[in-house]
Amino acid sequence: MANISAVISGIECSVPDYILTNQELEKMVDTTDEWITTRTGIKERRIQKGEGLGTSDMAADAVQKLLKKTGTAPEEVDLLICATVTPDMQFPATANIICDKVGIKNAFSFDMNAACSGFLYGLATAEKYILSGMYKKVIVVGADKMSSIADYTDRTTCIIFGDAAGAVLIEPNSNGYGIQDSILRSDGSGRIHLHQKAGGSVKPASHETVDAREHYIYQEGQAVFKFAVKNMADISVEIMEKNGLTSNDIAWLVPHQANLRIIEATARRMGIDKDQVMINIYRYGNTTNGTIPLCLWEWEKKLKKGDNIVLAAFGGGFTWGSIYLKWAYDSN
Ligand code: UT7
Repeated sequence: MANISAVISGIECSVPDYILTNQELEKMVDTTDEWITTRTGIKERRIQKGEGLGTSDMAADAVQKLLKKTGTAPEEVDLLICATVTPDMQFPATANIICDKVGIKNAFSFDMNAACSGFLYGLATAEKYILSGMYKKVIVVGADKMSSIADYTDRTTCIIFGDAAGAVLIEPNSNGYGIQDSILRSDGSGRIHLHQKAGGSVKPASHETVDAREHYIYQEGQAVFKFAVKNMADISVEIMEKNGLTSNDIAWLVPHQANLRIIEATARRMGIDKDQVMINIYRYGNTTNGTIPLCLWEWEKKLKKGDNIVLAAFGGGFTWGSIYLKWAYDSN
């Protein structure tokens, strides 16, 4: 078999219409636009409104648009991976539900939970299926309805998060484009700083867990911040060194959008200018698994075939990682 690599051959996203601004948050919790902007870089985020709608609805919308854009029939898809921490329900997998909603019938599908690093884990996993030679069309969706687990009485966490979904099509390529390398890590001891206390097998849902507000995100912001700054920068530098890349070789850094200060620290450590960093945290906040595809989608028209791109993420678990890829197409 000829040498093949796995490329992103198309990208689409879905963001809800409703815009939750810092000004509106000022009326909900004791905060200010000034505090949120200077501490996080966020000005507004999108919120999915509507009874009975969940993560799979945003994801299905993104996948449907992706199939259309890439001229792919649903029956051609071999595998769909959904990276999410806000599945529609505990089971079945949201990936199964997405496939049902868009008519993907000849595929298998599963969810991946690696918190904010889930999209990178999904991408690296999809790559391995492509490299096996057995799968030709794999979709990776990063989707989260973070508003479903954000506590809008907790000013330290609710201001950060937003809702979105992004989907990419991964296909084989024989010209050397696509994913060149990936480094993924996890350290479960970090769970004490960032988790959801109840609703799992250790502490199933009960009146008490609801009363204690234990179904929301629990985050010790400062502790997570320190690990995020160090690990996201370290792993991005590691992938550069491992592949002999200097900052001049890199066209774009695509960082997880958790906090503008974490993004800037990572770019500084890599020696990358701010205008080579994709940043849209101002408008979307932290959409967990949606951040990286949302950036690639917004910058798609500026990307050129052969551009060296480094993706980097850090999140709950802890999990973190970086992927080095060569962009495979010019948009027109
Ligand atoms: O997505 C992947 C994982 N997550 C992350 O990477 C997030 C990492 N952490 C962060 O981004 C930041 O830690 C936060 C944005 C969550 C918080 O920013 P911080 O600069 O670390 O603030 P802090 O928690 O240290 O709080 C500083 C002060 C406190 O007041 P005192 O004790 O100094 O009087 C907080 O009570 O700011 C106060 N504060 C606020 N004030 C106004 C906390 N949240 C707010 C708020 N508005 N929304």
